Amino acid sequence: MERKIQVGILGGTGMVGQHFVKFLQNHPWFELTWLGASDRSAGKKYREAAQWHLGGETPASVADIVVDECKPGNAPKLVFSATDASVATEIEQAFAKAGHVVVSNSRNHRMELDVPLLVPEINPDHLKLVPVQQRNRGWKGIIVTNPNCSTVVLTMGLAPLKPFGITKVIATTMQAISGAGYPGVPSMDILGNVIPYIGGEEEKMEQETQKILGDMHGERVRDLAAAVSAHCNRVPVVDGHTVTVSVALSTALAEADLLRAFELYTSVPQERKLPSAPPAPVIYMAQSNRPQPRKDVEREHGMAVFVGRVRPCPVLDFKFVAMGHNTVRGAAGAAVLNAELMVSEGLLA
Ligand SMILES: NC(=O)c1ccc[n+]([C@@H]2O[C@H](COP(=O)([O-])OP(=O)(O)OC[C@H]3O[C@@H](n4cnc5c(N)ncnc54)[C@H](OP(=O)(O)O)[C@@H]3O)[C@@H](O)[C@H]2O)c1
Repeated sequence: MERKIQVGILGGTGMVGQHFVKFLQNHPWFELTWLGASDRSAGKKYREAAQWHLGGETPASVADIVVDECKPGNAPKLVFSATDASVATEIEQAFAKAGHVVVSNSRNHRMELDVPLLVPEINPDHLKLVPVQQRNRGWKGIIVTNPNCSTVVLTMGLAPLKPFGITKVIATTMQAISGAGYPGVPSMDILGNVIPYIGGEEEKMEQETQKILGDMHGERVRDLAAAVSAHCNRVPVVDGHTVTVSVALSTALAEADLLRAFELYTSVPQERKLPSAPPAPVIYMAQSNRPQPRKDVEREHGMAVFVGRVRPCPVLDFKFVAMGHNTVRGAAGAAVLNAELMVSEGLLA
């Protein structure tokens, strides 16, 4: 790319916003030039507005950017959104109406019928909803979303099995505390403990999975016709959501067929060599005690999902474990890969 595409972040001072800032450092296509936040932060330099929670100092390339209000006017065409869910609906819609391409991490628009809920490896064709959305809403811009952090791990684990007809899924999560933002879960609640409830998470996992693994029919996504049951738990892990999965398939398969499906899985981002795409999106680990968040979460820059322990399930057909980086593949990295796919489709022209 001759000249980098300027990008901004709505909600750039928050926890997810900081992950975007970090992920976009030295990006080969995108240059972060604009940051928006609430009126509490607007007018301040980024280093003063944002209490930097990630490793090291506030990156020098953004430290002196003066934070703007989240209002269209000065922002570049492409904006990533990490605004608080209580305000994301209005802010994202105002930017899309004003002609911006909004690549959102917030839950607000994910399940709307004309909004792509995109995982570039799984459903790049769901971008066909873009002209439908623009026509329905009369927008020059677009809103595209990425899934909830646990849903990404589950759907990437299931995607290689989709050709075999997924009919039932039972997924149990062990979710890292970084998924709850900052300050997140109180330390007295989570240290040495498991919390068997994350508000709204099970519903999101069940519904988003059916949409992501669904197929385009005309101008709509027809959801995957599979029953999905999620059990979501918060555990004292810093980064990395682990999901244990039992799955029923409509095709009779041997264990070796599943292993081959995981090992051979590749898709559009790999073919197009998108900058944030991992060479292999799903990595099968043969060791019986892997994947593990502490040992595996940082591999492949946090962009691959690791799968292991494929074996027969006495209730459904097979079971396995999947693990991925919740703030990278489940948040900032997911949105940046979505934007790269959109650039490769000519949607940023
Ligand atoms: N992919 C995922 O699974 C995942 C994971 C975690 C979070 N999320 C979503 O990401 C979003 C951000 O989460 P977070 O943990 O980063 O939250 P956070 O740390 O509280 O940050 C919220 C951001 O929104 C801004 N904001 C708040 N009120 C605003 C307003 N009235 N106008 C404009 N900006 C406003 C804040 O600006 P100030 O600093 O000025 O207050 C801050 O930049 C949420 O929608 C959350 O649901 C998604």
